[in-house]
Amino acid sequence: MAKKTRKQKSAIRTAITGVHGYVPPDVLTNAELARMVDTSDQWIVERTGIKERHILRGKGLGTSHMGAEAVRGLLAKTGTAPEEVDLLICATTTPDFVFPSTANLICDMAGIRGIGSFDVQAACSGFVYALTIAAQFVELGTYRKIVVVGADKMSSIIDYTDRTTCVLFGDGAGAVLVEPHRKYGIIDTLIASDGAGMKHLHQKAGGSRMPPTAETVAKRLHYVHQEGAAVYKFAVARMADVAIELMKRNRLNKNTIDWLVPHQANIRIIEATAERIGLAPERVMVTIHKYGNTTAATIPLCLWDYERKLKAGDRLLLAAFGGGFTWGGVYLTWAYDTPPSRGTREQARACARKAEQSILTGPLAAVPPSPMSVPRGE
Ligand code: ACO
Repeated sequence: MAKKTRKQKSAIRTAITGVHGYVPPDVLTNAELARMVDTSDQWIVERTGIKERHILRGKGLGTSHMGAEAVRGLLAKTGTAPEEVDLLICATTTPDFVFPSTANLICDMAGIRGIGSFDVQAACSGFVYALTIAAQFVELGTYRKIVVVGADKMSSIIDYTDRTTCVLFGDGAGAVLVEPHRKYGIIDTLIASDGAGMKHLHQKAGGSRMPPTAETVAKRLHYVHQEGAAVYKFAVARMADVAIELMKRNRLNKNTIDWLVPHQANIRIIEATAERIGLAPERVMVTIHKYGNTTAATIPLCLWDYERKLKAGDRLLLAAFGGGFTWGGVYLTWAYDTPPSRGTREQARACARKAEQSILTGPLAAVPPSPMSVPRGE
């Protein structure tokens, strides 16, 4: 199991104060996949729970396009001006380029200028890793408003002639705003990895170990290689391990968790995790049937989809497992109630203003800006 991390002890918590998502309009159904490879709707639904997934089509559109859509929506609904954002972190396995980072591009596309921004690569655990990093900056008082994005265009690295992987993945992005809060927010985090898992799930070519050549392209080595059964075994064990570890550390039980927010790779992995911690299905967030596995985006997309059901004070357990292997979890209390409909920008602003009353002001507000930060407007 992972090394113990320091539990959040300070009076300042890092709260999620807004969430937004984006999935591209084009839908790829199981029936369409069954016309492309030797599979069937029945096999896909029974073995994975996936009915359809969204695919980003359009020349020149990469992961940043979806991330920027999610961030623009997030800023609008939380009434946050681009100038107010202090840091943006993007978790992705499918960056637009090796460099610059997708976070840099998202900032530019969302009108956010002059701040620190960087990518985090931890495959399907990426969002949990990025949220954990964001929490350190908030707890230390370095930054007040951080945008954490999980975005992946998995269709760019999927071989649509390989039935064992092409049915699993979809494209999408989710983004959250995190801020210091006196009452609610992140209570505990856990991240872990085991590089020995590489052989079971990786992309063989395109990196520095095997740079792209005509031969690597011809051999289809730029696509996801996954030994499904081996990965499944680890995923089932680790997702539950991480949830149980966080429960133990925080004296939680099945009656004191309001929501499990699991990474969405396979409905059987989600159900096995919920079963091991004894949680009823109605308290488990599930979006896999309509989005498939969107890698770093699954957890923020879950939060976005279920936002209207969440209430201030709800206890959420986030758990993820992915390539690397990587795994991790976050235990947090939700910080706000959401109006019943996604509503207008005005409603969202009113909601944000209400949340603002609990968002930390005072001592932290006096923390001087980081000496490395670029003054606003430059
Ligand atoms: N349609 C029909 N048959 C298929 C398909 C398909 N789409 N895919 C595989 N099969 C076949 C296989 O060829 C195999 O046939 P065989 O017995 O004749 O060889 C049979 O179905 C069983 O194959 P398995 O791989 O054992 O199937 P399994 O029940 O394990 O399900 C799956 C496969 C869905 C991939 C599952 O193993 C899984 O979910 N693995 C974990 C995925 C995961 O969590 N990944 C981590 C996150 S991803 C990331 O980090 C990027």
